[in-house]
Amino acid sequence: MSIRNLDDLLAEGVSGRRVLVRADLNVPLDKQSGEITDDGRIRAVLPTLSALVEAGAKVVVCSHLGRPKGAPDPQFSLRPVAGRLGELLGAPVRFAEDTVGDSARSTVEGLADGQVALLENLRFNKGETSKDDAERGAFADQLAAFGDAYVDDAFGAVHRKHASVHDVPARLPHVAGRLVLREVEVLGKLTGDPERPYVVVLGGSKVSDKLAVIEALLPKVDRLLIGGGMCFTFLKAQGHEVGTSLLEEDMVETCRNLLERSGGKIMLPVDVVAADAFAPDATHDTVPADGIPSHRLGLDIGPETVAGFAAALSQAKTIFWNGPMGVFEMAAFANGTRGVAEAITKADAFSVVGGGDSAAAVRALGLDESSFGHISTGGGASLEYLEGKTLPGIAALEN
Ligand code: 3PG
Ligand code: MG
Repeated sequence: MSIRNLDDLLAEGVSGRRVLVRADLNVPLDKQSGEITDDGRIRAVLPTLSALVEAGAKVVVCSHLGRPKGAPDPQFSLRPVAGRLGELLGAPVRFAEDTVGDSARSTVEGLADGQVALLENLRFNKGETSKDDAERGAFADQLAAFGDAYVDDAFGAVHRKHASVHDVPARLPHVAGRLVLREVEVLGKLTGDPERPYVVVLGGSKVSDKLAVIEALLPKVDRLLIGGGMCFTFLKAQGHEVGTSLLEEDMVETCRNLLERSGGKIMLPVDVVAADAFAPDATHDTVPADGIPSHRLGLDIGPETVAGFAAALSQAKTIFWNGPMGVFEMAAFANGTRGVAEAITKADAFSVVGGGDSAAAVRALGLDESSFGHISTGGGASLEYLEGKTLPGIAALEN
C-alpha cells in the first residue's frame, strides 16, 4: 500500500486550485485569558501550508478544537488560532465564522492564489463526529465542495473516524501532508525493527487508557518504565498501600497479571513525592514507594526512581516516551518529568516523544526540542499506531 503525498500533488500543479487541508490545530488555551499556551501543533503544519502557498494554491484549512458538542460554542472558536497561524505564516489568514455556511462559502470564494483561509471549528457541526454514516457523509459533501484536492496533515486526529478525516478523502483526490508523512515514517520505525535496547517510558494518569498499548508493547520492548498517576495502580498490584494517590481499583488485578507476564521488563518507581493535597504549595516529602503515608498522595516519581530510569535510558538505542511522570504543571512535582526528559536527551538513542501532553511538557520545561529525534503531535493517534490498530485517517489515504 502506498500513500500519495504532498509532493505528488505539487508535481501535478496546484496553482489556482483550491486545496482543503485537514490540520490538527487543537492547541491548549489558557482557561482565563483564552490565549494559546502552546502553539506546537500550529507550527507543525507550517511546512505543508507554506509549500501550498508558494505553489499558488488557494488553501482552505479546517480543524477541530476541544470537544464542543456539535453546535457553535464560543470558548472553542478557532479565531485565536487564525491569528497565530497568520503570524507564523507571515501573511494574514482569512477566518470564516462558520464551517460550511455562508461565511465559509464567501471566504473560500474570495481567496486569491496563495492565500489561506481557516474555517471555524469542525465540531460545531454534528456531522463531523457522527456515528451515522449518512450524517457524516452529508457533512463531508459540504466540506469537500470547498476543495479540488484534499491534504490530510492532522496526524493527531487520524485515529478518529470523523467526516473531515475519514469521509472527505473518499470524495476528493487525496494525499498525506508533510507532517502525517513524517509521523508515519518515524512511528513505522518503532513498530518495525527498532535498534535495541528499545526502552519505552509511559506516564499519564490512567492505566485504563494505556492498557492496550502496554499489551502491544510488552513483547517488543526490552524495558518498560512506568511513572505518572498510573504507577500507583501498579504499586498497589505489587502489594503496596498508596494512600490517597490516584488509583484505578478495578485495574489492580490486570496490573498484577501484566507484572507477572512481563518477564521483569516493567520497572516501577522505588520512591515517590507524596503530598498532603493536590496543590502547588502542598506539604510534600520523598518517601519509599512501599511507604506512602495513608493520608498522602503521590504527585511525582522520586529522585532514586529518576536515577534508575535514567540508567536504563542511558543504555537504550531506541526510546519512546508518552505521558508525564508527575504533575509537571506544578514546579514542586516537575522534577520527575524533567529528569526523565533530560535522560532521554542525553541517551545515544533515536528518541520519539508521543502525545500532546508530553510534547507540551518538553516545551513548558524549556527543554531543547531538537535534542529529541521526533516529537509527535499525536497522543491517542501515536499510541493507537503503536498498538497496530488500523487508523481511519490513514486507511482513507491508502484507498
Ligand atoms: C488530541 O488532542 O488528542 C487530538 O487533537 C484529538 O482530539 P480528540 O481526542 O478530542 O479527538
Ligand atoms: Mg486526545
